[in-house]
Amino acid sequence: TEKRMEEIVRNAVRTFHDFPSPGILFRDITPILKDPNAFRSAIDLFENHLRTHFPNIDVIAGLDSRGFLFGPSLAQRFDIGFVLIRKKGKLPGLTDTISYSLEYGKAELEIQCDAIQPGQKVIIIDDLLATGGTMFAACELLKRRKAEILECLVLIELKSLEGAQKLKPHSVHSLLQYE
Ligand code: PRP
Ligand code: ADE
Repeated sequence: TEKRMEEIVRNAVRTFHDFPSPGILFRDITPILKDPNAFRSAIDLFENHLRTHFPNIDVIAGLDSRGFLFGPSLAQRFDIGFVLIRKKGKLPGLTDTISYSLEYGKAELEIQCDAIQPGQKVIIIDDLLATGGTMFAACELLKRRKAEILECLVLIELKSLEGAQKLKPHSVHSLLQYE
């Protein structure tokens, strides 16, 4: 059942204090990847959610780097493509760049200009939503490419940082929520 799968995924998240900087409660998703049953449960939960809410998805876009761990497996379930939104300087060819701030720093994201066709329906995926700075920047890049953003999808949402507010009017769906 869904509840059972959620429990399996939740039990595979570890918490570290003061990483990567003092005061941060770091939610580590690496045990999910180490355990095939937990990984399958996560992908199953993402798939069930998307099938219920979105009859037509053209592309899944994943965020560097932990969005890359879940996005391609999920895209395979729908027989659709996966595109990369990367940290600056990693993608060849014509790119578009945006700078942003995140819970513990600042960075720049890039997309290849030919990654998305205008009007394509896109789901954006990442492992975790904290302040929403990263996801907000990704939405901006995709809007510049004239994508239709269906939803921002994350494994973990840190509720107290109110990232979902920042992303409005785009909607956020998370498998697990933490304060
Ligand atoms: C982490 C996480 C999200 C982002 C969330 O990535 O994977 O992408 O921070 O924070 P925000 O909501 O405050 O923007 P990070 O930039 O640490 O890079 P990584 O995935 O390469 O570890
Ligand atoms: N990315 C931003 N904030 C994070 C946190 N608290 N744990 C894991 N990844 C993060």
